[in-house]
Amino acid sequence: MRKTMYNFDKIIDRKNTNSIKYDSSKEIFGQEEVLPLWVADMDFQSPPAILDAIKKRAEHGVLGYSFRDQDSVGHFTNWVKRRYNWDITPEQVSGSPGIVTALALSVRIFTNPKAKVLIQTPVYPPFHSLVIETGRTLVTSQIEMTPNGYSVNWEDFESKLASGVEMFILCNSHNPLGKMWSREELLRMGNLCLKHGVLIFSDEIHADLALYGNQHIVMASVSQEIAMNTITAMAPSKTFNIAGLLNSLIVSKSPELLNKFNKELNTLHLGMGNVIGHITLSPAYNESEEWLNSLVTYIGENVDYAYDYLAKELPTVTFIKPESSFLLWLDFRKTGLSHKQIKEKLINQAKVGLNDGTAFGECGQGFFRMNIGAPKAIVKEGLERIAATFKTN
Ligand SMILES: Cc1ncc(COP(=O)(O)O)c(C=O)c1O
Repeated sequence: MRKTMYNFDKIIDRKNTNSIKYDSSKEIFGQEEVLPLWVADMDFQSPPAILDAIKKRAEHGVLGYSFRDQDSVGHFTNWVKRRYNWDITPEQVSGSPGIVTALALSVRIFTNPKAKVLIQTPVYPPFHSLVIETGRTLVTSQIEMTPNGYSVNWEDFESKLASGVEMFILCNSHNPLGKMWSREELLRMGNLCLKHGVLIFSDEIHADLALYGNQHIVMASVSQEIAMNTITAMAPSKTFNIAGLLNSLIVSKSPELLNKFNKELNTLHLGMGNVIGHITLSPAYNESEEWLNSLVTYIGENVDYAYDYLAKELPTVTFIKPESSFLLWLDFRKTGLSHKQIKEKLINQAKVGLNDGTAFGECGQGFFRMNIGAPKAIVKEGLERIAATFKTN
């Protein structure tokens, strides 16, 4: 195992820190005792450069209104150029507290009140709920599991686009499947959206967490026409484990799309952002890449460990290795138990808190999502609890 200067093995007690993951077990799972392996933040300390910037500002002691400076946006544009060969200028970048905020705003701004909005299931639960809560009609196209990995059902995808859909929400890379879309797949999806006049919102929050040396491809980078039809959402939140700062970056090459987005953002006074978000942007994108490289190596090792462990100890529970990020889409269907029974056993016997697969769509029956963005000892403990429980059924 490669030794790095960052200690991802260190266990940090997150209880009593207002942590949704660690301090909401009673509300979410009905009991305090579960090992929480659900909501998508990690149990690691953020990169030293980010923590130092926060300490420095705390010592300064004044936390007044602040703005996102052009230098830090420049560090972000350099980052996406260097890593994804995506050419954007600071003028093409806006912000938003969360990506979900930007997505909900975009649905309101760019689609008609009863519009159809397409998502690919199983997918991150707010994609479902925000479409419904904004009064739009949810249209789904299921990503299929094939012997060669996950695949779009192209016939179904196009027929849905052709059914009067106004917006397609892409998850690139995909949560919960950990699928990274190839250039060919992105071009095909993007061109079909152009053909049917469907706007693309590409949520690329997990982009920086590509595993095993995989290369992330930005949807808006695959063609100029697609770029002009796309709003891209990125953030340092998952990448550097600073999700609690709620500071995201929204990009479009289309001045028309970006202006409309900014107008609404500013009407709601959401555009200013927060001081800690602003002062951590440069240390994130300009000083923390080495930390990130060590992190993705560590996550890759966790994935491999979980895969080998389950193959040996509990072959009835399987997963396709994610190409990106720290989430495992565990398939319990071979246990022969009902979804309800699996859930009950996970919570009350194994005492592990996983995400219920059905929150990602009906096709999530028999699946649960496990967060392995944690020290190996925690991942091991979670897997052992699951194995001890399901081996005996
Ligand atoms: C695909 C995806 N989009 C958005 C988010 C949340 O983004 P934010 O907290 O910036 O709203 C998550 C968090 O898990 C996610 O997985």
